[in-house]
Amino acid sequence: MSDTPLLSVRGLTKRFGGLVAVKDIGFDIRPGEILGLIGPNGSGKSTVMKLIMGIERPNAGSIKVDDVEMAGWPPHRIARAGVGIVFQHSRPLHRQTVLEHIKLALLPDSLVKLAADPHVNRRAREIAERVGLSHVMHRHPATLPFADLRRMEMAKAIARDPRVVLVDEPFAGLTAAESEAFSELIRGFRAEGRAVLLVDHNVKSLAALADRVLAMYLGEYVAEGTADEVMRNETVRRVYLGGKIEARERGAEVVSDKPSILQVENVGVLYGKARALDSVSMHVREGEFVSVVGLNGAGKTTLFNAISGLVAYQGTIRYGSRDLKGMSGAAIARGGIVQCPETRELFGDMTVRENLDLGGYHLPDKMRADQLKWLFELFPILESRQAQTARTLSGGEQQMLAIARALMMQPKLLILDEPTLGLAPVILEQLSKAMELMQKTTPITVLLGEQNVTFALPHADRVYVLEHARIVWEGSPSRFEKEMGRGFLEAVPSEPAQVAQAKV
Ligand SMILES: Nc1ncnc2c1ncn2[C@@H]1O[C@H](COP(=O)(O)OP(=O)(O)OP(=O)(O)O)[C@@H](O)[C@H]1O
Ligand SMILES: [Mg+2]
Repeated sequence: MSDTPLLSVRGLTKRFGGLVAVKDIGFDIRPGEILGLIGPNGSGKSTVMKLIMGIERPNAGSIKVDDVEMAGWPPHRIARAGVGIVFQHSRPLHRQTVLEHIKLALLPDSLVKLAADPHVNRRAREIAERVGLSHVMHRHPATLPFADLRRMEMAKAIARDPRVVLVDEPFAGLTAAESEAFSELIRGFRAEGRAVLLVDHNVKSLAALADRVLAMYLGEYVAEGTADEVMRNETVRRVYLGGKIEARERGAEVVSDKPSILQVENVGVLYGKARALDSVSMHVREGEFVSVVGLNGAGKTTLFNAISGLVAYQGTIRYGSRDLKGMSGAAIARGGIVQCPETRELFGDMTVRENLDLGGYHLPDKMRADQLKWLFELFPILESRQAQTARTLSGGEQQMLAIARALMMQPKLLILDEPTLGLAPVILEQLSKAMELMQKTTPITVLLGEQNVTFALPHADRVYVLEHARIVWEGSPSRFEKEMGRGFLEAVPSEPAQVAQAKV
């Protein structure tokens, strides 16, 4: 490893109106080094990356690559100088195949017409192979499962051959096995002598990769050192890591005798030829908390979308005594089934407050005010950001808003699809406590889809395991641990998922 930094940042500062999102941040990254950047949601991590990439202009500070000052340059110039970013959210082109995406990334802007060059073709295939995309090379992004879309973003970054690589939350929404495959790619960046800046809330994966870790809070520097040193830091523990998620207190296992409010019988869904759900039967009793666990592409989102009336299915879904077949999504929502989708579906141009008000428009004033007050206690950041446009919220803040908006609707049956995506550990703990309280104080029924077993088990009364479009197991959380083991989902080898997640 060379001692001269490849990327050198000093005094970096960015203000958005009155908010100082990044304040006087500085660090060096040498070639062949990975610097992990951690901090709670909204602490300024993505903003640091956008400033380095030139997507946002710094108010102050210096950004040098190989001793050349780049602060204030436009993004294309910074890219040409050897800086690349892997965004958390892919915005793929719809008409290009996976391979064409990689080819485009291989070529400088002016050379797109050379895309037919056999060398480019060969190189693009090599990269597809390296990231594990060879089996879907000729497909369009819209048909790909989540993990493959992430792989494609990684492939594009590799194709551009940057010396400085900024990777924003590569592990979010990935299973342990998928995260390991991504870690391998990032280790590859290090071995090739690139300088890597890595942000992720998966503390375990990040700590295993990073040579050094820098922690931020509210835009400011908190600590820097080895992963171990930083994780032991008092402030980092308090504002970021939080405590362990405690399992709910349960008496002896009682079998609920409440009536089912949701009954799914022999439900099947096909996307073209791909079977997304295969004779799935399950039920949820009144007041119950049911977790459906399963890998990416197992069919969780499809199941929820069928219940919410967003995809067509065979079989029967009953809500109370009502058959939901043929009802519109809006009518189902009015009946009290509210889904908080994985994709968040916020109104990006509206403010935080407007998004929440839309959720609660049907409530009487007093009830709406009380609900809002409770949600602001749950997610204080949303209270202070009421006037902020939803699209400019940080990743985790958007997730909190999506959950809050769903709760604002006061659902009878709340469906949460991967609510932990992109949330800092401390927020998970907070959300976990809120669920607990909600169950104690309201008659709400919850159906949760998760691959994060640590979050899915502690609250659940009952668990279903969904694997390759089928329910393969049902039981209590304690039986789950005995029979499946906590490592269950992690032990399943990462196979390319068969089915694209439903996007409606
Ligand atoms: N254009 C903007 N206008 C106003 N505020 C903004 C804008 N962009 C970002 N912010 C705010 O700046 C803060 C830092 O955001 P940033 O996206 O950098 O956080 P983060 O550390 O990446 O968080 P997360 O872990 O949730 O992704 C957030 O509170 C965010 O709401
Ligand atoms: Mg972010």
